[in-house]
Amino acid sequence: MTFRIIYSSASSTPMQLDDLEDILEQAQANNPAQRITGALVYADGFFLQILEGEKTRVEDLMQIIAKDLRHEHLRVLYAGDVWAPAFSDWSMAYVSATPEQVARWAGLSGTTELPEVWEDIRHNPEKAAQLTESILDVLMKE
Ligand SMILES: Cc1cc2nc3c(=O)[nH]c(=O)nc-3n(C[C@H](O)[C@H](O)[C@H](O)COP(=O)(O)O)c2cc1C
Repeated sequence: MTFRIIYSSASSTPMQLDDLEDILEQAQANNPAQRITGALVYADGFFLQILEGEKTRVEDLMQIIAKDLRHEHLRVLYAGDVWAPAFSDWSMAYVSATPEQVARWAGLSGTTELPEVWEDIRHNPEKAAQLTESILDVLMKE
């Protein structure tokens, strides 16, 4: 078993490639020591991050990330045990996406407004699982 948290947030300022690289460098430097893996998606001013690992370690990291001023309106969409980590090959994978892609990955049609997509995922854990699988598919094809 492993613990998984999926959250969404909004970047405080528009992210340039350098800004995203800074975040990824921090994640990739720190996460291996905590045996945390995951994926970070950036789409049109919004972050979606999946963190997986031992529950207390993931929760501790969430506390740190939640205080980070580079993003705001952090909202947990899913938190729970899963059988195995999906991103065990990545200390933190990065995926750049459009809102349309994110909506499609979660199996949603009819909206491309990310706040609506986040709400839908928050109320439907099976969509959180579907989104995770889709992001993994994208990474495997890279
Ligand atoms: C969207 C987002 C995702 C982040 N993800 C991680 C992460 O997975 N691991 C991590 O250590 N820091 C992550 N950070 C950075 C932390 O908030 C914090 O700045 C960092 O852990 C401090 O690391 P340091 O003590 O090595 O400087 C993230 C920040 C943001 C804005």
